[in-house]
Amino acid sequence: MTEIDTSVPHSARIWNYWLGGKDNYPVDEEAGDAYTAVFPGIVTIARSSRAFLGRSIRYLVQEAGVRQFLDVGTGLPTVDNTHEVAQRIAPESRIVYVDNDPLVLTHARALLTSTPEGVTAYEDLSLYEPERILEQAAKTLDLSRPTALILSGILGHVADHDLARDLVARLLAGLPSGSHLCVNDGSRGTDPDYEQAQDAYNETGAVPYFLRPVEQITAFFDGLELVEPGVVSVPLWRPDAGSTPEPIGQHGGVGRKP
Ligand SMILES: C[S@@+](CC[C@H](N)C(=O)[O-])C[C@H]1O[C@@H](n2cnc3c(N)ncnc32)[C@H](O)[C@@H]1O
Repeated sequence: MTEIDTSVPHSARIWNYWLGGKDNYPVDEEAGDAYTAVFPGIVTIARSSRAFLGRSIRYLVQEAGVRQFLDVGTGLPTVDNTHEVAQRIAPESRIVYVDNDPLVLTHARALLTSTPEGVTAYEDLSLYEPERILEQAAKTLDLSRPTALILSGILGHVADHDLARDLVARLLAGLPSGSHLCVNDGSRGTDPDYEQAQDAYNETGAVPYFLRPVEQITAFFDGLELVEPGVVSVPLWRPDAGSTPEPIGQHGGVGRKP
């Protein structure tokens, strides 16, 4: 896709709408509202997914010692983007964002607010070209050092599970031992209303997004050492002290490349 089409809803803009952002068009609002009419829980899912992203980045920086991040499927800038969470703890963190949405590209400047000690870069590339992503990321990241690959809410856009696994494997192949994979995606089998709303959304002309059975999300971590508590509904992944998390149809986890 090379230009911004405001006549069909778009994943990054609807997600932004559910997250309470302003970077969306009436067509996105309409599609977002049609979705919540069938499944209001999507707003919690969008927000819980961002909260998981924040907790997982904090884990990666604080406990796993990672200082380099490759975040593919960045989305529109919102609060607590990957680089903000990482650089708040370790200002020297280096981040490469990748997305193929022209609107995300126009907003990328807002993402490039790095600390002076670190760096933030943006690459307009598709998940379907993993070797090119690695090649371009290497301009900013030292890929001989452990790097966290962040795939948050993007693998559901790849309908074919074998292809999605292949793309993940090819990205991980370019990263050394001690690198990590962080995935979270919408899951099938938790709520029929969610599946119905998602099927209707996929008919709107937007780039479709497919909910996956939890076992398929878990399979993205094959060959990696899963960090406790494994692949779980995202609110249950290392919840903040004092919170009372409820499971939802969004599953994720973090794994380490041995
Ligand atoms: C649901 S948003 C997730 C945003 C953010 N990662 C988050 O978790 O809040 C999905 C993002 O994936 C991007 N995306 C979809 N297909 C892509 C592809 N083939 N290559 C790169 N980005 C893609 C969309 O443009 C969108 O920004």
